[in-house]
Amino acid sequence: MGHPHPKLQARTLTRSFGRGHRTVAALGPLDLTVAPGEFTCVVGPSGCGKSTLLRIAAGLLRPTSGELAIRTDSDRPAAMIFQDYGIYDWKTVQANVRFGLDIQKVPRREADARATDWLSRMGLADFADAYPSALSGGMRQRVAIARALAVEPEILLMDEPFAALDAQLRTILQDELLDLTQTTRTTTLFITHSLEEAIVLGDRVLVMSARPGRIIAERRPPFARPRTGDIRATPEFTALKGELWDLLRGEVRRDEVVPA
Ligand SMILES: Nc1ncnc2c1ncn2[C@@H]1O[C@H](COP(=O)(O)OP(=O)(O)O)[C@@H](O)[C@H]1O
Ligand SMILES: [Mg+2]
Repeated sequence: MGHPHPKLQARTLTRSFGRGHRTVAALGPLDLTVAPGEFTCVVGPSGCGKSTLLRIAAGLLRPTSGELAIRTDSDRPAAMIFQDYGIYDWKTVQANVRFGLDIQKVPRREADARATDWLSRMGLADFADAYPSALSGGMRQRVAIARALAVEPEILLMDEPFAALDAQLRTILQDELLDLTQTTRTTTLFITHSLEEAIVLGDRVLVMSARPGRIIAERRPPFARPRTGDIRATPEFTALKGELWDLLRGEVRRDEVVPA
């Protein structure tokens, strides 16, 4: 089953690192189709190749075999958010959010207006002139999200963006991201360790095997959109979380931490 015009399509994609006896098969073979406007979450054990998949999607890494195609209808970029934020400490918050627009050569006045708009949507309007060092971890992460969304990317690629945050902040940002993506309908590929996060946010949740990561299961959270974080308290949510954990359990080594 596939959308006739997928935004992202991987076919028998593999990636390995190193050569000869030292070759490590990191990913695949993996097939993946993401339809326009779809929010796809990927969960999988540590080291199974999730970041490798996202880096290939972002054009930062070449496949070893197979292919990954991204279909764009404009010259808008795919935007990527790494878990380590990647914001610049020597630029103000406003300049950080404007950064992607500057690269796209959006005229300064328009770029500033769009940056200001996204900062206020992320609750950061009062911090436009601050430097990131003055912000909390959660605020820095909001700056990174504002910067990614300000370029109005065709595809949003997020690699465990909330992994370093405490549980409460994580819940708040999940709800904010849910709100935003239901408004913008941005096609999103979202990597996470957290089953809860995947169920709250995803139109579907893909489960990856241990390295080399392949997709071993797909589930569609049974919650109509627009949905809110309240679904966390439903029996359906708990049931799906249990089912996903059963799928993942066999792939996670015993010395790894149970995902939140
Ligand atoms: N640049 C690299 N050089 C060598 N090995 C790598 C490199 N990047 C990733 N790997 C290896 O590939 C596997 C998958 O890594 P990664 O995609 O980061 O996993 P995940 O994000 O799922 O934790 C791991 O065994 C990792 O050590
Ligand atoms: Mg990773």
